[in-house]
Amino acid sequence: SRAAAMDSLITLVNKLQRACTALGDHGEESALPTLWDSLPAIAVVGGQVLVFFPASSFGFVPIGSGGSASAARCGSRELLVEPRGQLDLDRLHSSGKSSVLESVVGKDFLPRGSGIVTRRPLVLQLHRIDGDREYAEFMHLPRKRFTDFAAVRQEIADETDRETGRSKQISPVPIHLSVYSPYVVNLTLIDLPGLTKVAVEGQPDSIVQDIENMVRSYIEKPNCIILAVSPANQDLATSDAIKISREVDPKGERTFGVLTKIDLMDKGTDAVDILEGRSYRLQQPWVGVVNRSQQDINKNVDMIAARRREREYFATTPEYKHLASRMGSEYLGKMLSKHLEQVIKSRIPGIQSLITKTIAELETELNRLGKPIANDAGGKLYTIMEICRMFDGIYKEHLDGIRPGGEKI
Ligand code: GDP
Ligand code: MG
Ligand code: NA
Repeated sequence: SRAAAMDSLITLVNKLQRACTALGDHGEESALPTLWDSLPAIAVVGGQVLVFFPASSFGFVPIGSGGSASAARCGSRELLVEPRGQLDLDRLHSSGKSSVLESVVGKDFLPRGSGIVTRRPLVLQLHRIDGDREYAEFMHLPRKRFTDFAAVRQEIADETDRETGRSKQISPVPIHLSVYSPYVVNLTLIDLPGLTKVAVEGQPDSIVQDIENMVRSYIEKPNCIILAVSPANQDLATSDAIKISREVDPKGERTFGVLTKIDLMDKGTDAVDILEGRSYRLQQPWVGVVNRSQQDINKNVDMIAARRREREYFATTPEYKHLASRMGSEYLGKMLSKHLEQVIKSRIPGIQSLITKTIAELETELNRLGKPIANDAGGKLYTIMEICRMFDGIYKEHLDGIRPGGEKI
């Protein structure tokens, strides 16, 4: 049937996405970069304020000595500066990006810690499967299945270091992780390094700009759906996520606002104006979440308990009761999955024409490379071509003639 055909096309789109990112720069000679750009994905952005910055050319020393955070200037940037060791301000000012991702996936698997922990983009594909098995696979370790998610976390950290040489540098080369589970929704999410204000010890001064550029390079593409994560205990006007998404998506057409840390707001204040879209208008509805606090994490509060508490929080807090059915991480995951599917459906005719072009170009390129399977790039190109052919086949057999926009589906 048409519906089944559409489902398999969406699966193939996910596979293509994986294959195209794996290819890295080998794709430049073909239509692949265009193909990758036309496949929708969701990028998670959010800010963090780090608390140390280089004060002298002799090294990196903490600035400030008083009790409270004070503003200083570094170039043209406003900085929050806090003495070392007093407060874990990084945690305090992190927007909760990793927590949101983990809640959507329903698993603890992301490296955590202070500083810029996410130093390479993580392209995370969630695949819903039947049964009760759950496992993860990295693209760079094709035949290894991870069932221990603590080991997944370790591998993300190790693979980050392999590329950046433990230097705390950042790299735009993505890590590709697939999670297979009966508890996830089909979704591709890209975790990007947090927008930051200052370099910390061992990081080059350019890191601030490098991160911003990297984040922008992902989210400026029109196919990119932006998950802009802002903490409720900070002024929304200063949210880095909102600032950068507004730059690339001024009408808010492809930005989803996620408000974290609602439980940490000052007594007597609430987030209703934000959640109902009055503070900052987006075409998509805002979603509020309550993630685990650092204390919860330290006490090993598990994800199931955390989600239950989150549900209870929205259902029983008088201010949010009326919004409860469209709040929380579970709702966020479902909404994103539905949205992504709609976007993919509407783009399928366009993707199809690109695929025809890509097949032709890949054939030429593979001929040029000689024995395709013999080398890495050739093997990957070959895989992509096979996926493209399957896509082409399903499309022609079941869905040909769908007009752009895809409303008929
Ligand atoms: P990231 O740096 O943006 O990825 O932020 P993390 O997800 O690592 O979160 C930073 C800190 O904030 C961690 O200690 C989390 O436990 C805490 N945190 C995140 N979201 C919430 C929330 O909704 N409520 C509370 N109380 N703490 C949160
Ligand atoms: Mg993080
Ligand atoms: Na952090």
